[in-house]
Amino acid sequence: MTAQPSRMHDVTPETRAIVDLVLDYSHRRLLSEDTPLDKPLAAAELTRLAGRTVTEAGIGARKALGLFEHVLAPSCITTDDPRYLSFIPSAPSKAAAAFDLVVSASALYGGSWLEGAGAVHAENEVLRWLADEFGLPAGAGGVFVQGGTLGNLSALVAAREAAREQGLRPDRWRVVCSAEAHSSIASAARVMDVEVVAVPSDDGVLRGEAVRAALEEHQGSVFAVVATAGSTNFGIVDDIAGIADATAAHGVWLHIDGAYGLAAMLSPRTRDLFRGVERADSVIVDPHKWLFAPFDACALIYRDPELGRRAHTQHAEYLDTLTQTSDWSPSDFAAHLTRRPRGLPLWFSLATYGAGVYRDAITSAIDLAHEVADVIEARPGFTLVRRPQLGVVVFERDGWEKADYDRWSAKLLDDQHAFVTPSSHAGRTNARFAILNPRTSLAHLTGILDTMA
Ligand SMILES: Cc1ncc(COP(=O)(O)O)c(C=O)c1O
Repeated sequence: MTAQPSRMHDVTPETRAIVDLVLDYSHRRLLSEDTPLDKPLAAAELTRLAGRTVTEAGIGARKALGLFEHVLAPSCITTDDPRYLSFIPSAPSKAAAAFDLVVSASALYGGSWLEGAGAVHAENEVLRWLADEFGLPAGAGGVFVQGGTLGNLSALVAAREAAREQGLRPDRWRVVCSAEAHSSIASAARVMDVEVVAVPSDDGVLRGEAVRAALEEHQGSVFAVVATAGSTNFGIVDDIAGIADATAAHGVWLHIDGAYGLAAMLSPRTRDLFRGVERADSVIVDPHKWLFAPFDACALIYRDPELGRRAHTQHAEYLDTLTQTSDWSPSDFAAHLTRRPRGLPLWFSLATYGAGVYRDAITSAIDLAHEVADVIEARPGFTLVRRPQLGVVVFERDGWEKADYDRWSAKLLDDQHAFVTPSSHAGRTNARFAILNPRTSLAHLTGILDTMA
């Protein structure tokens, strides 16, 4: 039998059938209102159920899709389920999720202006809108990268490069952040071989005074301060304005890690918490978190994008056509080269629904967090660990140990009731609701509390 090399690309009856199958499945899944929460199976069980799927001759689209629908997908937790309240959930709008198909179907390349000008233009309009919301100047700009971890790393690399350009030559480079900062800051520091100065505080809020003291102690070696605009554990927003005073006084780069929380700057209810963001040198926010876009997308914005470009542009003979122009090529602004224009699902959704509904959806999640916090405070046997600022509610069931939380969480998922994983603070295990899905209701949350009786 010949291999028929063009079989995968030519438009044949087989191709039509494959495309129809896949679009039909996607159509059903996108419009489904009763996809179960689902749960992971053990690897051995998946091997047994799925069998060998990668073979020399292929198993055919119908069989492969059937396996996906009936074996593989049910072994993936439904992240857009309103009862998914762990980590930071994802709740893509229907328009954003549907448009993700278009990005793939169109084989768009988002790395260079030459190849993807139209897509990059639309992504840049979204970045411009975000920059305006954050109060950044007209020249601000950046790129959508894979996630907050890569966004933080890329911003910090640009910050160190800028410090080098200014002549700083310490024996050891340092980055200052809160002890509550996300683990991706420590990860970036490891990759960059720099030291993290993690500043503790009693209430988890990093303030200007503490930053000033750290900058004085490590004078001449700090290339960036990271302010967290919504910590992952509690949704705490640092004192960004105070920190901006300290970084300005010392001429140090201010980076805002708003991967989770900066979206709440769109809400009139919480906008003031973020005062000072407009003074940042770089910011990130993840659309795959609270901006209702599908995985995976982080918006990275520089006050002066040229600093990002100088730090990140890759040079090679075959790329000279791209890099010897002044074109805006997204590849140049982060630690990456090939990229899909992952900002487009957010662009389409914003263009479809308008920004107003985003503000409302974010505000209603914050309202719900406050409501359930009130319920927890009033419920005997429960202790609210701290009042929420954004959409994260952390609480303890009095008398429970870690094993109780673990058992309860596993049963909750086993029963397909909800997905709530335990967390911990100051050595004490707790339960944590991360609320952002507009379909999550107070009834869902109180129903979960009832299971902790
Ligand atoms: C504050 C904060 N920063 C960074 C990240 C990392 O983002 P990602 O998971 O997209 O890499 C997260 C993820 O939860 C986060 O909450």
